[in-house]
Amino acid sequence: MFLSVCKDLAILNNSPNYIVVMATSMDAAQNASFFNSVFKASEIILETVKAEGLIHVYSHLDADGIAAAGIMGKALCRLDAKFRIRITQWVDEKLVTEILQEKPQMVIFTDLGTEYASLLSQKTSELKILALDHHQVGGELTEGFVCVNPHLHGIDGARDISGSGVTYFVAKAMDNANVDLAPIAVVGALGDLQDKYDQRMLGGLNEKIVEDAKNAGLLTVEKDLIFFGRETRPIHKALASTTSPFIPEISGAEDKSLAFLVSLDIKPKYDDKWRALRDLSEEEKKRLCSALADYLLSKGLHYEISNLIGHVYTLNREEPWTPLRDGREFAVLLNATGRMDKPSLGIAVCMGDRGPALEEANKVLENYRRTINKYLGWVMEKPERMREMENIYVVYGEDFINDKIIGAVSSILSTSLPNPEKPLIAYADVKEEGIVKVSARTTDLLTSRGLNLGEIMHVAAEKCLGKGGGHNVAAGAQVPTENIDMFLKLVNELVGKQLAGGKTGS
Ligand code: C5P
Ligand code: ZN
Repeated sequence: MFLSVCKDLAILNNSPNYIVVMATSMDAAQNASFFNSVFKASEIILETVKAEGLIHVYSHLDADGIAAAGIMGKALCRLDAKFRIRITQWVDEKLVTEILQEKPQMVIFTDLGTEYASLLSQKTSELKILALDHHQVGGELTEGFVCVNPHLHGIDGARDISGSGVTYFVAKAMDNANVDLAPIAVVGALGDLQDKYDQRMLGGLNEKIVEDAKNAGLLTVEKDLIFFGRETRPIHKALASTTSPFIPEISGAEDKSLAFLVSLDIKPKYDDKWRALRDLSEEEKKRLCSALADYLLSKGLHYEISNLIGHVYTLNREEPWTPLRDGREFAVLLNATGRMDKPSLGIAVCMGDRGPALEEANKVLENYRRTINKYLGWVMEKPERMREMENIYVVYGEDFINDKIIGAVSSILSTSLPNPEKPLIAYADVKEEGIVKVSARTTDLLTSRGLNLGEIMHVAAEKCLGKGGGHNVAAGAQVPTENIDMFLKLVNELVGKQLAGGKTGS
């Protein structure tokens, strides 16, 4: 089983209680120690299930978190385990207290919670605690819990493996039958925008999950036109809604996009039905691609041409023309269920429900799209709603933008900022708690110059009596409302410092 997970490792001993893996290169050494923690995690889950212990799973509310919850849920179901899953936007002291009162035998955090797992383990020794996470770790961790986190092994958790990927490896170690969940982990990684390798490819440990899914006949990976919505959107809408690549006068303009297709003699409809990208013949795709390339060239956008084609991840067993068929569309559906307060639908879909849960999830997706458009329209309505500071942009969603959706709004806005050399800090009120939810986003260009938003959110939030963290490129925080101005001032300073090559300090 292990060899099929990781071909570049040589196994010395794989007894149930003692796993030693010998590495054959630096990368392999990192993978080896990572997979040792994977096996430790699978063992304690199996032990708990065998002892009929109650397991509480906590996962994050975004696509990756929902996918992770679905993977763990299915793996535990297959073992007839006693478990419950909860989705949360963040872990805090309140949740830790709740867990201590509920006294399950085991708590599993997926796609979040490394530091809180550590805190929890300081407060109790009766509970088995497991963190399956891929976020950067802010402080020192205690030894009283099992943690599977790529960052602890020198592996980049922002691009090489997601929370659902970590959970998938553990599920696979629990039972090889869980290999059929590999496509869900691919969806989670795409949801976390980990397709950062050449031509929007998943790389690093994600590549091993892709291989598993392909070998099981569940996934096809091909290079194709990369516009979002290839299974479900009319072609002109897919073209118009794309911002990467940005096509002047076509991005954002459905009428122009339709006219462009017609000028190429590509029929947007067959009979009364709009065609999606998947319906184009190879010849039509070539015609569209070369016309777009010529068009971009005529606008001087040579660089954008390489963004027309990318890796497309198709889930073979899903129905064509549905949002589950394309990995990126599947991820948006999961994100919608999490952010619209219906995560159980997304989890059920990940666990295989293609009946009522999927039907409901599709309705939630529609509603989510309308809500996002409403929020984007609101931000654009008044230019002062996007404020520019020396080193950052700031969007304040007041109590108009739902704090669970501010992250998605921040991601979308960050792709078309007037000056891409500044990160975006968006925030909204969480009135009932007297705090604001902050979502920070930047580009790979700025992270390659040393910007690490996860670190900045962590340091600035701590100084303002809040909590923050995440990835270099996408991070978040919760901050008491009265401290937000001080927080923004600090973030502005820290961004400037990091981009000038300085240390963040804490
Ligand atoms: O909430 P949002 O989508 O903005 O979060 C971006 C990333 O930062 C997510 O992966 C989230 O888990 C992480 N985050 C964190 N600690 C926080 C807030 C967000 O690790 N306090
Ligand atoms: Zn994640």
